[in-house]
Amino acid sequence: MLISAVQFAPEFINKEFNIEYVKKCLSEVKSDIIIFPELSLSGYFFLNRDEASANAIDFESVELDFLREDAQDNNRIIIIGFAESKGNKIFNSAGLFFPDRTLNCVYRKTHLFYKEIYAFDRGDTGFFVVSFPEKNIRIGTMICYDWRFPEAARCLGLDGADLIACPSNLVTPLWNKVMPARAIENKVYLAVANRIGIEKRNDETLLFNGRSSIYDYNGDTLAEAPVDSAKIITAEIYPERTRDKSFNLINDINMDRLPDMYKQIMKK
Ligand code: ACM
Repeated sequence: MLISAVQFAPEFINKEFNIEYVKKCLSEVKSDIIIFPELSLSGYFFLNRDEASANAIDFESVELDFLREDAQDNNRIIIIGFAESKGNKIFNSAGLFFPDRTLNCVYRKTHLFYKEIYAFDRGDTGFFVVSFPEKNIRIGTMICYDWRFPEAARCLGLDGADLIACPSNLVTPLWNKVMPARAIENKVYLAVANRIGIEKRNDETLLFNGRSSIYDYNGDTLAEAPVDSAKIITAEIYPERTRDKSFNLINDINMDRLPDMYKQIMKK
């Protein structure tokens, strides 16, 4: 099974450009799973709810039909970050589009980063895994800053993910040290689709630091994009290899967990 992560520079509040760019990538990539960055259709640096709201899209909107149709017509899974409007709420979400439309769903970012708190509501979906038996894959999603909380990846690992997809707009250089650990400790594949470019608002500039990566369940890098240029990276994965959580004759990362002991530590 082939998986790709798309690294590019979404243009701030230029939905037409971003949608055309995503369509162009989709026409070029043949992988079974394609992951795009966080807020791919709107850009990132919203300073308030009004701005985010004006650029948010309802998940059922016809504007996202091209993703529903592509996933169905080309028998592949697409995961893409977008600003989602739902009633009077606005979420920093990832849309998951499957060949079987009944599985389509959104993950809404749980841990909001920096000024996202002024623009978005905190995600209400929690962490969940979608199983797609036709491709024998179980996918969990987290978005960007969720990486700082090992509980996010742990929830997805315990819920049976083979692959954690992580649409991102990462601005610190720290995450590369941690993502491979998330893959190892949960014995899952992990794919980060990060963005590049800068966004300047008032007197503040954010630099997004690329290096989109696909890690295997031993934390080894299968593919990595450059720090500052657009690139689609692709790797072959074998989802069933993540399911036996033992790593020698005696130890198994799920069986060896001792949740009662962790509760004692947390109470202190
Ligand atoms: C981030 O959560 N976009 C850093």
